[in-house]
Amino acid sequence: MPPAEPVADARLHVVTGKGGTGKTSVAAALATAFAARGERVLLTEVEGRQGLAQVFDVAPLGEDERTLLTDPSGGEVVGLSVDARAALLEYLHRFYRLGPAGAVLQRVGAVDFATTIAPGVRDVLLIGKVYEAVGRTTRRDGPVFDRVVLDAPPTGRIGRFLAVNSEVSQVARVGPIRSQADSITRMLSGPETVVHLVTLLEEMPVQETRDAVAELTDLSLRVGWVVANLVDEPLLLPEDLPTASDGVDDVLDDLVTEGLAAAEVSTLPAMVTGLVREARDHLARAALQARLGEELAGLGRPVATLPGLPDGLEGGGLGVLADALDEQGVTG
Ligand SMILES: Nc1ncnc2c1ncn2[C@@H]1O[C@H](COP(=O)(O)OP(=O)(O)OP(=O)(O)O)[C@@H](O)[C@H]1O
Ligand SMILES: [Mg+2]
Repeated sequence: MPPAEPVADARLHVVTGKGGTGKTSVAAALATAFAARGERVLLTEVEGRQGLAQVFDVAPLGEDERTLLTDPSGGEVVGLSVDARAALLEYLHRFYRLGPAGAVLQRVGAVDFATTIAPGVRDVLLIGKVYEAVGRTTRRDGPVFDRVVLDAPPTGRIGRFLAVNSEVSQVARVGPIRSQADSITRMLSGPETVVHLVTLLEEMPVQETRDAVAELTDLSLRVGWVVANLVDEPLLLPEDLPTASDGVDDVLDDLVTEGLAAAEVSTLPAMVTGLVREARDHLARAALQARLGEELAGLGRPVATLPGLPDGLEGGGLGVLADALDEQGVTG
């Protein structure tokens, strides 16, 4: 389905979804797809999980931005793992000119402020770094990054993570943190930002996706694509079965027996029973997948699907996912 509005125009692409559905993989694939178009892309994670380093098979990322991939087109993916501690020191340096004093703060432990005392402020610091990257320019060449892709916290926490304004208003009503939060909110709710939701075609992730669309919309955040990950074409669909007055198991029994005979495999009854049971489960999964796919389509957002790769993201898998996103129009 084509997008209702050109979400690819956004410069900040936030990728969220239920835990384990493929957020990191999809964020990496999206960044790769933009780079394949010749763009310079910053790919960031904010929870210090080092998921990006794993996907690109490089040493752990830090505050230093590092090139993860270069494309013949001239495009590039630069990786960054934002850490609250480093972000606070940079923030203090920038707003209070605390240069070497930052090191002192670090030593005496005042920096725990960022990691423990005020979670809202911690999030502002993390997104603050993303905000800085989106807005970063050089006098000669304009924006440093054409695109910033954020491997964001899971859907269960994404609302709070992105609602920096309400989080911060509890701890800072005025001052630089407050105005930083206001600027961030303007960026997040403006046309520059879009939030993509990764899901599997399973009950729980689809439920979370539905809830997330409602929550993000309430927060005036723009939902972009719903990406259904690990979707495999069913080998057998209910409509593939010959219509017969017998039960499904009998139809499957005939199919399996005929198939095995055609392949000249000698069979034991237990083998046929086992294969029939597997075929029945497969049909049930195919039906569920079809129903959940329709539910996703009903959310009113464009839906892209990605196959499950037999060898995971290694050996060119990332490129396969990137091409699939590109072909389906996610990159514009
Ligand atoms: N399309 C795919 N084909 C094959 N393997 C995949 C695919 N997408 C993701 N994976 C694998 O599934 C696992 C989970 O993916 P990923 O780490 O991207 O999920 P996540 O949502 O970021 O997880 P977490 O919530 O832990 O951060 C990884 O091992 C990844 O390599
Ligand atoms: Mg992840």
